[in-house]
Amino acid sequence: MTSAERNAGGIPRDFSRGGATLVLDSFLSDIMGKPAYDLKLAPTEATATAADAPLEALLANFGVDGTPALVSCRLRADDVNGIQALEESGFRMIECYLDFEINMKATASDEPDGPTHGLRLAGAADRSALKAIASSGFTSSRLHLDPAIPKAQADESRRRWLANSLDGRAEAVYCTVDPERGPSGFVACRRLDGAEPGGRLDLIAVAPHARGYGHGRALIGAFVRHCRRADYRYGRVGTQAHNLPAIRLYESLGFRLDAAFMTLHLHRSERRR
Ligand SMILES: CC(C)(COP(=O)(O)OP(=O)(O)OC[C@H]1O[C@@H](n2cnc3c(N)ncnc32)[C@H](O)[C@@H]1OP(=O)(O)O)[C@@H](O)C(=O)NCCC(=O)NCCS
Repeated sequence: MTSAERNAGGIPRDFSRGGATLVLDSFLSDIMGKPAYDLKLAPTEATATAADAPLEALLANFGVDGTPALVSCRLRADDVNGIQALEESGFRMIECYLDFEINMKATASDEPDGPTHGLRLAGAADRSALKAIASSGFTSSRLHLDPAIPKAQADESRRRWLANSLDGRAEAVYCTVDPERGPSGFVACRRLDGAEPGGRLDLIAVAPHARGYGHGRALIGAFVRHCRRADYRYGRVGTQAHNLPAIRLYESLGFRLDAAFMTLHLHRSERRR
């Protein structure tokens, strides 16, 4: 371990060795009631040798006090050496994750294209309805797919994600509103800082009863217009390879597949020896 910082509970916050680093995911740790880490592996050259000393040594240092924990790792889908190294270390494949990008210069207009379904910025009065949609609207996330994670925790992660978005994690949250039933869906738009700022479509869901009527299309339109107004050059969004409704929706509105990843999880119940 080249660096180890401990939080109040004595849990290592992050540490690294060789081409690998474990970073504590406080958001997920809180929901799961145990430490959750992201494992970051250096690009291909390092992961090609990850089966030997660096990864093994890193994982041997993980869970130093025997605390059960989750370790997640997302690698490029063509990094077969890295994926195999993780599998040999006990990781299990969870999802294929696709990242899409839309070029804002290529988007047509600032006007809504089609029905808007009561689209507007979400406010405090929408909070509980939108949290209910978030906590029941997702079935495809990596947490929902992992059989070792209780559904209630996966649902709670989306509920809190939406709450955090409303509390400022997102630059803006838009919702569609049914005149009789109230809010029917939401999209959270986050700013991506990088060499060039862009927009991230951070979270989107439509209530099951409202699906298939164009609410999702209206919400993506709001995201695109938000990015155009902020003068972002691009917008990004990710989803699971099996989430056909989302993929078809993104593609039909001009998003292009940009990268593919595999996400793996390791559940540790005790220290490895
Ligand atoms: C993805 C989601 C937001 C789509 O919302 P929606 O309001 O049902 O979508 P729309 O009615 O606006 O559909 C727009 C387009 O999406 C695609 N689409 C939507 N539902 C689809 C389905 N069940 N199968 C295939 N394509 C579908 C179609 O291309 C559709 O265009 P069309 O009506 O001209 O065929 C909704 O299914 C949802 O909330 N899913 C759960 C949460 C989720 O998976 N979020 C995204 C992942 S991060």
